[in-house]
Amino acid sequence: MGLKWVAKAAVQKGISVLPGSDRLNHVLQQRVSRSVQIDDEFIERRVEWAGMHLQAFRRHGRADGPFTAVELGTGWFPFVPSLLYLAGAEQVRMLDRVDHGQTDFTLTTIDRVLERVADGSVEAHLGPVDPERVRRLGTAREQVASGDRVGGLASVGLDLCIGDATTLELDDVPDLICSNAVFEHLPRPVLEGILRRFEELSTPGTVMSHLVDMCDHYAYADSTVGVYHFLRYSDRAWKLIDNDLQPMNRLRANEYRDLYQQLGIPVTEEHLTANSAAELDGTPLAPRFAAMDLDDVAATTAWFVSASA
Ligand SMILES: C[S@@+](CC[C@H](N)C(=O)[O-])C[C@H]1O[C@@H](n2cnc3c(N)ncnc32)[C@H](O)[C@@H]1O
Repeated sequence: MGLKWVAKAAVQKGISVLPGSDRLNHVLQQRVSRSVQIDDEFIERRVEWAGMHLQAFRRHGRADGPFTAVELGTGWFPFVPSLLYLAGAEQVRMLDRVDHGQTDFTLTTIDRVLERVADGSVEAHLGPVDPERVRRLGTAREQVASGDRVGGLASVGLDLCIGDATTLELDDVPDLICSNAVFEHLPRPVLEGILRRFEELSTPGTVMSHLVDMCDHYAYADSTVGVYHFLRYSDRAWKLIDNDLQPMNRLRANEYRDLYQQLGIPVTEEHLTANSAAELDGTPLAPRFAAMDLDDVAATTAWFVSASA
């Protein structure tokens, strides 16, 4: 086992106590690790995710026509909101505790999205794209480039909504509520509060679609540790290793399922990566995880779709 992940964990722990720690961490991530680089894989994954949310909405919400959406935890690059706009969203609220956005990040996002419209990959995942929407996204790009990032995004219905999702207030009910690689970073009580709030805001026809990455994220920065590495630590030991900048709650598929059940939120569709218990072979598991159904422990990604009835 290498020490790269240990160094990363120690640095994140150290800077998590400094003022402006979110921004500082992002700069470090960009410079030091490859974990937030906008490479083709990063972009293609988000095109695929947008397509998955859209298909879930078309299956369980409205089969066609315009819609409104909320994306929890948009982060630095508004790929999924931009793609949902192209797919027909009239408004996408980009809900985040912090406005991580910057002009260059937003321009990169729009440019990469427009490139993927041109090469046909957006259409492959989202279906036919209205050329007028493509044109308007290009115009929005110019407004962003001129220094008006928030106005440019808003000109195509991409509205920044900065605040804690547990206390989200909306004037109207969104048709689609989605998230991408966010749940795994939320402490369980916070996740519970957010899901409860989303459920309160939903009416019949609202669809929730959440994608969860249950891998040890240190595996993305250090090839010597595997995606199950963090499961060897007791909760007490993990609390010492984990940090507030990029926390990992280590919840497994069964624990998400139980949380939905406890909150009375239906899981209309559940898709887990097909990893089976055999994948865990040789991974020492802390007793809490060893006591679970090992197929649930081994699942590395989950997609939970809920249709409000
Ligand atoms: C890992 S990042 C999400 C990455 C992004 N979705 C993507 O696909 O690249 C998690 C995001 O959730 C946001 N977040 C964490 N807790 C939150 C809360 N209680 N309410 C709203 N946003 C929150 C963080 O600020 C951060 O931007």
